[in-house]
Amino acid sequence: MAQDIYDTAFVATLFDRCSARYRRWSALSSFGFVWLWRKQCVDRLIGQTSIARIQDGALSPRIPKVTQVIDLMSGTGEIWPHVLAAFPRAQITAIDISPAMHMEALAKLHGTRAHKISHMTADALGSDLPAETADLLVASFGRKTFSPTQQTLLAGQIARILRPGGSFSLIEASDPKGWIFRPLYRA
Ligand SMILES: C[S@@+](CC[C@H](N)C(=O)[O-])C[C@H]1O[C@@H](n2cnc3c(N)ncnc32)[C@H](O)[C@@H]1O
Repeated sequence: MAQDIYDTAFVATLFDRCSARYRRWSALSSFGFVWLWRKQCVDRLIGQTSIARIQDGALSPRIPKVTQVIDLMSGTGEIWPHVLAAFPRAQITAIDISPAMHMEALAKLHGTRAHKISHMTADALGSDLPAETADLLVASFGRKTFSPTQQTLLAGQIARILRPGGSFSLIEASDPKGWIFRPLYRA
């Protein structure tokens, strides 16, 4: 029987296996563009921080100490430097189903950043993150691991986790059909 590539146990094992090579592989296979794409994903959220100040429908004059940011399908945490550069008050919760990807992220985390990240090994489609707690949410290159039905579940999770008025930014690579360099990309 054909392997269900959207089975969460299969996906977790797959990323556990490739965790040590993931960082280099994603940089190489995107010709280095992945760094820029992750930054662009985060930059879309700049200007949204006052959401964290909305209390009972009104803008509170108090600037909160932290901006709660969720990174779904966080992998090795490559997006965190961009998040922290754009939102120095950010506290990031990183959710990934692969324990080895978390370990890889921790191994490479700069010491100065570690206290700003909490790690959860969990299925993003059914995590028990409390509702309406995140000010911002990002997900880079994790959506392709989901079937269309799972993507609908993911949208529901995002809506549940974000505070009213919270913002999200997702980025994904697609098959560049019609692009002259497609054969190279596919290789
Ligand atoms: C292509 S990597 C992207 C990693 C990272 N966000 C980046 O920018 O490179 C996809 C990640 O999604 C995670 N993942 C896949 N399905 C998941 C699920 N149901 N719940 C949580 N994480 C999942 C994988 O373990 C993997 O680390």
